[in-house]
Amino acid sequence: MDVNGSAAIISGGASGLGEATARELARQGATVVVADLNEERGKAIADELGGVFARTDVSDEEQVQAAVDAAVATGKPLRVVINSAGIGWAERTVNREGAPHSSASYRKVIEVNLIGTFHLMRIGAAAIARTAPVDADGQRGVVINTASVAALEGQTGQLAYSASKGGIVGMTVPAARDLSAIGVRVNTICPGIIDTPIYGFSSNAEEFKAKLVAPVVFPKRLGRPDEFAQLVFSLIQNDYMNAEVIRFDGGIRFQPK
Ligand SMILES: NC(=O)c1ccc[n+]([C@@H]2O[C@H](COP(=O)([O-])OP(=O)(O)OC[C@H]3O[C@@H](n4cnc5c(N)ncnc54)[C@H](O)[C@@H]3O)[C@@H](O)[C@H]2O)c1
Repeated sequence: MDVNGSAAIISGGASGLGEATARELARQGATVVVADLNEERGKAIADELGGVFARTDVSDEEQVQAAVDAAVATGKPLRVVINSAGIGWAERTVNREGAPHSSASYRKVIEVNLIGTFHLMRIGAAAIARTAPVDADGQRGVVINTASVAALEGQTGQLAYSASKGGIVGMTVPAARDLSAIGVRVNTICPGIIDTPIYGFSSNAEEFKAKLVAPVVFPKRLGRPDEFAQLVFSLIQNDYMNAEVIRFDGGIRFQPK
């Protein structure tokens, strides 16, 4: 599918993988809507790309509806929904002091990562459904979700994060089946370790990232956000890619810690 002349909404578009995707889609001629909590960076990026910023907490369905309305209001047909907003969390099921995992933190991670993805996927797809098909197949648009390899092999302390990302993986096939009725494809990317602000900027963060590289097979480095954006773009372009969960990880297989 050609994105040129379409609107694309990108949750988490103010940083990291979402930002790189917003830049790539704008470069390819899409009008981007950056839907993010981070007003300052989100607005700066949207302005730079000639797009629109919508301050959005993806776990709040009214705010997601408003962001999708902003995409529709661009006057360009909404054809692309990218879910990239997400938060990390580390907490053991039972910690070293014997205390069980907090239910508040578990709920928070599920609300942002999983329910946030659910909101933008369904509310975005409902808006895509109101556009005219673009081709002889009856295609109207594409949804791309961001899970993680932690969905498949979560490490120690990733109970909540892995559950949230596993839920995104689990939604992929049924969503693709449901949305086939309106000509929308759905794919999910499971990144490994990509160098983004999610790891922070301290010297500890650099040390932490260096450790994470060890199990990467090849190339022996962190992934780059622009490489992620390139994959997103090729999944949008290739009309036969649907209902797929794709690892994007330099061959990494996570160890328990
Ligand atoms: N970077 C990696 O190595 C990696 C690996 C696997 C999966 N992921 C996933 O990729 C996605 C993007 O991560 P990133 O590395 O670009 O992180 P990032 O921290 O650079 O960007 C995440 C963005 O999401 C936004 N956000 C957070 N909570 C939000 C909310 N409730 N509503 C709206 N926006 C919200 C933040 O403001 C930020 O702009 C996340 O879902 C993350 O779990 C990242």
